[in-house]
Amino acid sequence: MSGIYDDKSFFCDYAKMERSQGLEHSGEWYQLEPLFPALKGLSVLDLGCGYGWHCDYAARQGASRVLGIDESSLMLSEARRRFERPPVTFRQLPILDYEYPEGEWDLVFSNLALHYIEDLAAAFSKVHRTLTRGGVFLFNIEHPVFTAGVRQEFRSDEEGLYWPVRGYFSEGARTTSFLGHSVTKYHHSLSSIVDSLLDAGFSLERLVEARPSVEALRADERLRCELERPIMLIIRCRRT
Ligand SMILES: C[S@@+](CC[C@H](N)C(=O)[O-])C[C@H]1O[C@@H](n2cnc3c(N)ncnc32)[C@H](O)[C@@H]1O
Repeated sequence: MSGIYDDKSFFCDYAKMERSQGLEHSGEWYQLEPLFPALKGLSVLDLGCGYGWHCDYAARQGASRVLGIDESSLMLSEARRRFERPPVTFRQLPILDYEYPEGEWDLVFSNLALHYIEDLAAAFSKVHRTLTRGGVFLFNIEHPVFTAGVRQEFRSDEEGLYWPVRGYFSEGARTTSFLGHSVTKYHHSLSSIVDSLLDAGFSLERLVEARPSVEALRADERLRCELERPIMLIIRCRRT
């Protein structure tokens, strides 16, 4: 048993989310996909791979070797059932416990898992070490504006909906409600995320604050509130 994703009731609720149905069902994919390097022949490590959607994507794009790691046995059993075949393999272990061999991977990827890590600086320096020279680190983390407060919900006043940002500079654990379950994540300020990357030796290439696409907004009016604040922060950087 490790973490909320091994709680059966949470796992079932997570499975029902729209984004759990595949990459095209996650609102950020249209902004994330163009940031991948050309994957043909690359070795790819996915941190907190969940069901393994991005591992499968990398394999379909021609990656030569793909390893997904995740601490949850329930998530990994889904990943194995769906996608474990060459060149994709999975391992069950916490992100910080992987060995991160020097110069092993051309791309290290992580989608919506790093906000579960308290010591981001440690994770970034391990990732830096395990990348080949010129290798890319591409990740999507919950945005600091979203993670700052404990009550992650909109409020409204006479001007309409707004998102309260509390305790921005108090970094650390936040126990919030996600899918009706109590979940602990870690809030890191934008400067501490970027400084930790630069301190680890990365060159920053892209920083994207994810937002719904024009098409998604056209198709679903309810997404308009997502323009009030970003939920996700996508960063691409490189070991030079
Ligand atoms: C929101 S899901 C995202 C899954 C997948 N990356 C995706 O985008 O479909 C977060 C995943 O991170 C994993 N996770 C959270 N903390 C972790 C840790 N410390 N070590 C390994 N996996 C972790 C969870 O088990 C879960 O599968």
